[in-house]
Amino acid sequence: MIQIRRARADDDEALGRLDAATWTADVSPAPAPPLGTAFFSDRRQPEDTLVAELDGAVAGYALLRQSVAIPTHAHVLELGGLAVDPQCQRSGIGRLLVEATVDEARARGASKLSLRVLGNNGKAQRLYAACGFVTEGVLRSEFMMDGRYIDDVLMARHWVAQE
Ligand SMILES: CC(C)(COP(=O)(O)OP(=O)(O)OC[C@H]1O[C@@H](n2cnc3c(N)ncnc32)[C@H](O)[C@@H]1OP(=O)(O)O)[C@@H](O)C(=O)NCCC(=O)NCCS
Repeated sequence: MIQIRRARADDDEALGRLDAATWTADVSPAPAPPLGTAFFSDRRQPEDTLVAELDGAVAGYALLRQSVAIPTHAHVLELGGLAVDPQCQRSGIGRLLVEATVDEARARGASKLSLRVLGNNGKAQRLYAACGFVTEGVLRSEFMMDGRYIDDVLMARHWVAQE
């Protein structure tokens, strides 16, 4: 059974293990933090992290953040990280996390949720498209990975803000 909930400080170790297992060179331009690195920091707080549990164990997370902290940008939040344990992928957890993040962004008063995804990460792009995100731009050759230039794709979902 899959359950989505807000993170707690004591999820730190499980989320750190998930980061180390998930952020392989093909899906992340930066190496995964070494095992034992604290997951939560000033920029990653439990209250901004949604956790997926599968049969009671942490199996995925999504991060919500305000990328540009000025009032004129307050209606835009960013899905700043999404990861599902490789052992549990393709069982609907990613989709539930993205939908829960949209719900959370709406509840916080946002009307747009944006994200960045590597141009070679087709499975994540398909997931986001299935959840209503559209491509708004492409940063060409933004990263040099394994001897190849890789694009960064900007995607977003918009809705009408609730009063
Ligand atoms: C991308 C990721 C979060 C998807 O999580 P998931 O739990 O496997 O996704 P879901 O099971 O909810 O799949 C939802 C949809 O995503 C797409 N998708 C997911 N995995 C896919 C794959 N291996 N091949 C093709 N499409 C895939 C499909 O459209 C799928 O819908 P379908 O099963 O009805 O065809 C997961 O693969 C992951 O953690 N990858 C590594 C980290 C990463 O790339 N994060 C995103 C960075 S922007």
